[in-house]
Amino acid sequence: MKIIQIKSLQERPKADLLVLPFCQKKQGGPFSLFKTSLFQKEIKKIIELGDFRGHLGEIFILHPTRQQEPRLALLGLGVESKACTEDLRKSCAVLTRFSHERGFKSVNVLFPEFKKLSKQESLRGLCEGFFLSSYVFTKLKNTTKKRHPQLKMIRFIGLENEFKPLLKKHASICEGVNLARDLVNENADTLNADKLSEIAFDFQKKFKKISTLVFDKKRLEKENLKLILAVNQGSSANPALIMVNYKGDPADKKATVLVGKGVTYDTGGIQLKAAKGTIVHMKCDMGGAAAVLGVLHAVAQLDLPINIIGVIPACENAISDKAYKPGDVYESYHGNTVEITNTDAEGRLILADALAYAEKNLHPKHLIDLATLTGGVIAALGNKMSGLMSNDSSLAKKLIVSGKKSGELLWKLPLFEDYKVALRSSLADLKNASTGGAYPAAAVAGLFLQEFVQSTPWAHLDIAGTAYLSEPKDYHTTKATGVGVRLVLAFLEDLIDSQGGY
Ligand code: BES
Ligand code: MG
Ligand code: ZN
Repeated sequence: MKIIQIKSLQERPKADLLVLPFCQKKQGGPFSLFKTSLFQKEIKKIIELGDFRGHLGEIFILHPTRQQEPRLALLGLGVESKACTEDLRKSCAVLTRFSHERGFKSVNVLFPEFKKLSKQESLRGLCEGFFLSSYVFTKLKNTTKKRHPQLKMIRFIGLENEFKPLLKKHASICEGVNLARDLVNENADTLNADKLSEIAFDFQKKFKKISTLVFDKKRLEKENLKLILAVNQGSSANPALIMVNYKGDPADKKATVLVGKGVTYDTGGIQLKAAKGTIVHMKCDMGGAAAVLGVLHAVAQLDLPINIIGVIPACENAISDKAYKPGDVYESYHGNTVEITNTDAEGRLILADALAYAEKNLHPKHLIDLATLTGGVIAALGNKMSGLMSNDSSLAKKLIVSGKKSGELLWKLPLFEDYKVALRSSLADLKNASTGGAYPAAAVAGLFLQEFVQSTPWAHLDIAGTAYLSEPKDYHTTKATGVGVRLVLAFLEDLIDSQGGY
């Protein structure tokens, strides 16, 4: 799908639909968000009769004569004083679904002008709404009709040329999100660590500024990345540590390092997950890795002047006689030892090795990890906010701002020292999960990770609730959301701005 801008109503080409955006006043009827006297008589009548109220996602169709489009849609965007980019995404999703059901190929949209939102903000909401709600994943369907998105072209009417680069930016960001969604939706048996490595090497081929390095099993052994090896022990698939290096600012010696949990399937290991619980969701356990690859794809496509290294510990938490054992002790890359009190707390183990390796070897400016880490974060924050834990309040604040800007919200959880007792082991330096007591699972996982970061500003994003929904919703057309891509790109954008812009 393509989104372009057209300066004026007179210049617009033919389309299947013309969309006129409306908001509601807090009290009273709807009012238009565009400047044209076109269709005033017809619209006045509809509003007087109360046939269209302007509710969020409400659509009213008219059939005017002698227009470039055979039909007009009044589109409700909700109460104006509450207008936000997230509501724009949702309204666009309604419109996309409406268009797909009717086989529309092109839609002209009068660009709405809000008092409360800047044009940049509106554009973000609208572009993301259209791009993200047009996503389909049909690869695994055989007999049911493959529904390809018919919508090929959206034109924003009344938007000046200067916004063209923003259209490209949002298209690339959403491409990154949709790539992350594809990776999560793919079968876990297909998308193993080897496949993730292959994708990382494809990036190297596709983008000049990317170089990829993958540690295979032998190299992991040589480097002492033993926690990654331990978690993969029960699997017949290979483990890997995948590093994708994007160098967009050669003058800068340092890089933003993004670490993504890449557990391609999480059975729980010997402490197997319950049959009726979240196990059916566990193909999503590489959602962090998917987000990191999505970010790198967008960053490279946009040619951003910044250094990013994506680090993905990839493995499978499987169950077999070879699987790592509860009660056994394993050594980490960092050098401390970990008693395995729960084989299902595997994510923190592979992240621990990846974080410690990254800090020691990759000169990170800061470290941000994204991981579907705990059920606890779902209990605490649900599926509309990811958990944020950090050893650096300035980094945390910036990420919270990026969350608001991108619509991928974060909520800060405490790395409360007193809870560290939950990880005290009588046998090893640490245990990987608490064995009793009223400890908050998400924060304890964060405290575990903190043990493996020395002095680098670090933030941990627990995306267990947000990466994979129980049902598709709003502009998420599949369970996989691709969460993290938009958030990290908003963060990087601000980082670039603070370094002098691009
Ligand atoms: N991958 C899971 C976390 C998860 C749960 C992701 C639900 C997505 C949806 C993680 O590896 C896990 O199993 N965590 C355990 C940790 C516990 C054993 C300390 C959990 O949260 O139950
Ligand atoms: Mg687990
Ligand atoms: Zn897991």
